Amino acid sequence: MSDDAIEPTEGVEQTPEASDAVESPTAVAEPPAGAFVAGDLVLLIDHKKRQYLITLETGGEFHTHSGILMHDLLIGRAEASEFETTRGQRFQAFRPTLEDYILTMPRGAQVIYPKDIAPMMMLADVGPGMQVLETGLGSGALSMALLRAGAEIHGYELREDFASRAKKNVAAFLGEEALERYHVNIGDAYEGVDVVDMDRVILDIPEPWNVVPHARGALRSGGILVAYTPSITQVLELRQALETAGFSAIETIEVLHRGWYFKDRAARPDHRMVAHTAFLTKARLLSV
Ligand SMILES: C[S@@+](CC[C@H](N)C(=O)[O-])C[C@H]1O[C@@H](n2cnc3c(N)ncnc32)[C@H](O)[C@@H]1O
Repeated sequence: MSDDAIEPTEGVEQTPEASDAVESPTAVAEPPAGAFVAGDLVLLIDHKKRQYLITLETGGEFHTHSGILMHDLLIGRAEASEFETTRGQRFQAFRPTLEDYILTMPRGAQVIYPKDIAPMMMLADVGPGMQVLETGLGSGALSMALLRAGAEIHGYELREDFASRAKKNVAAFLGEEALERYHVNIGDAYEGVDVVDMDRVILDIPEPWNVVPHARGALRSGGILVAYTPSITQVLELRQALETAGFSAIETIEVLHRGWYFKDRAARPDHRMVAHTAFLTKARLLSV
């Protein structure tokens, strides 16, 4: 077999002659530990580094311009392996990270990207068992990070279709049991919220200053509010509302994320970058 020849066909068991196995010829090899199973989310990466998210189904097919990838090839095989379509296109297959999932998952509303979710989690200092008021929920990207950190979310979302998409995304990545900590209310958070003693309030809505008076009633003393706002004029209005409502330690940051390009001896920053997404504002509620 040449160096670049493809490994024996995926899913085909070795014959007894080709292995040292002592089991009967009809014995089926045990799947490797952590092997893919039906129902798993799988991230496929092609030779151009394009990414695709699939859910494995027995008998399922992933159609590409370069042939069909049979799901059955992956089921029972180890993660981080390579698989071929019917026309020889190769894909690497991994279980998606939360970042992979957020970038490829189905969306209703625009999501907060991992570049901002990561610092928001640190600014809000979210940990297991914390009670979090989150609005709006959008596609559930931020909710997933909060839930995976162990928080219990009391969410407010104006649109039922977005709330439904958020719940589906949460269940698909974290499992149905995560929904037990995801209490979703359909409603206008500007009108008020029906929660108290929250440890954290996280806002991603167009006019967060309208929720600040309600956040004051919902948060415990010392609780943290974090808001994501694309425009600096939103920041100014929000900070004013926070000061008026008795919040302290107010800080606003933005995070720039610049990738680098590597090829042979060339190593330089990418020509393009996501220069701006939003400003992140954090505040703590003084004792009331
Ligand atoms: C940009 S999206 C949130 C995205 C979400 N953070 C994520 O990471 O997927 C903003 C959401 O706020 C919701 N929204 C806007 N105004 C609202 C309000 N007054 N009360 C509750 N939700 C609201 C919108 O319907 C939308 O789903």
